[in-house]
Amino acid sequence: MSSNELEIEFAGITFKNPFLLSSAPPTMDPRHILRAARLGWGGAVMKTVTEEPTVDPRTRLGVLRREGKAIGMNNIELLSRESLKTWTDDWIPKIKQEAPKDFIFIASMMSGPEPEGWTALAETMSQTGADAIELNVSCPHGSPEKHMGAFIGQDPKLVEGVTKAAKKGTDLPILVKLTPNVTDIVPIAKAAERGGADALSAINTVESLIGIDIETATPLPIAYGKDRKEQFSTYGGFCGPAIKPLGLRFVSQIAKALPDIPISGIGGIENWTGATEYLMVGARTLQICTAVMWYGFSIIKDLTKGLSSFMKRKGYKSLDSVVGKALPKITTWTALTKLPPIVAHVIKDNCTGCKDCVIACADGGYVAIQMRDGAAVINEEKCDGCGLCYVVCRDNAIEFIHAR
Ligand SMILES: Cc1cc2nc3c(=O)[nH]c(=O)nc-3n(C[C@H](O)[C@H](O)[C@H](O)COP(=O)(O)O)c2cc1C
Repeated sequence: MSSNELEIEFAGITFKNPFLLSSAPPTMDPRHILRAARLGWGGAVMKTVTEEPTVDPRTRLGVLRREGKAIGMNNIELLSRESLKTWTDDWIPKIKQEAPKDFIFIASMMSGPEPEGWTALAETMSQTGADAIELNVSCPHGSPEKHMGAFIGQDPKLVEGVTKAAKKGTDLPILVKLTPNVTDIVPIAKAAERGGADALSAINTVESLIGIDIETATPLPIAYGKDRKEQFSTYGGFCGPAIKPLGLRFVSQIAKALPDIPISGIGGIENWTGATEYLMVGARTLQICTAVMWYGFSIIKDLTKGLSSFMKRKGYKSLDSVVGKALPKITTWTALTKLPPIVAHVIKDNCTGCKDCVIACADGGYVAIQMRDGAAVINEEKCDGCGLCYVVCRDNAIEFIHAR
């Protein structure tokens, strides 16, 4: 295998590997971006800028935990707190000058529903040395109140219009970053393609209310109202490992409907296996935010090493041969054979006798599991092959076999 098996073409640009920082706090300034660039990231999408810098509330991050471990995060942070001028006159030229030559820098920008703003911003960004531009039409909080972000991204006409307008202002490749906060993402993706998008990024965060402090009946994350005393919160954007199933769904739906447009997959990627899942449903590059915020830029080492070793083990010669590999196997429910003769089977050596599967199957399943000699045993006559025992088993003790 060649030494650059992770290299991939995306929107007319060669990336040395598919791993990019998504537009978020890890790309807030040159200090962050250059550190990531030197550690080997393929590229970065800068924190989104608009005409006016942002002043955010405090606090602005909330967390979803399971047994102490964070599995999802939400944020009520808006866009870059630095001015457009600082980015275009100082920061982007500095990053382009000091980052390794093969590091790809993508500018991220947002404007209102009027096309002129997008054309003007794209013209300005084109003069900075950026390699491509991502249009943020997907921020789910704050921006929609100003008729920006997901307000635009939920309306195919506006998406087409602003994409066309941005294309008018630049020759750089344009990525349109889509929102998952829609019933069907395909018409939106098609609108972006009609507008001239060179690529699509999916997904931005999922609109959410992360939780309530029940002692004080206060929604989270706790922020303050205008009087600086009373506590309030607002709906935010949910991200991290818990949203990977949503990202995979949206990316696969776009890839199936629009096979010719490259997709940058985003949402809950925290290791090389999650990255490979996104590649297999059609993503050509991968963007990461939460995992970097939680574990740091150095995860790039495991991402590249893990993906390379996997490709070697499976005989994939290039990333192109991994992209979309699982897509033909996503079909309709109607096309599935009903009740194939599959039943659960307990791997005795792994079963600890915890009874979790027995309880689940008794009350949520087909009453098909009993304890015998300290281990779970499946009654194949009763087992319906639903998979609930596999879901609740913490010991990797369930496999599926053809029923006798
Ligand atoms: C604190 C925070 C700020 C973000 N700011 C932006 C932004 O300015 N522009 C943007 O396009 N996406 C923004 N995002 C969304 C991320 O780029 C990404 O789409 C999302 O978090 C899903 O990826 P993840 O699960 O890897 O975090 C932000 C996310 C977080 C957590």
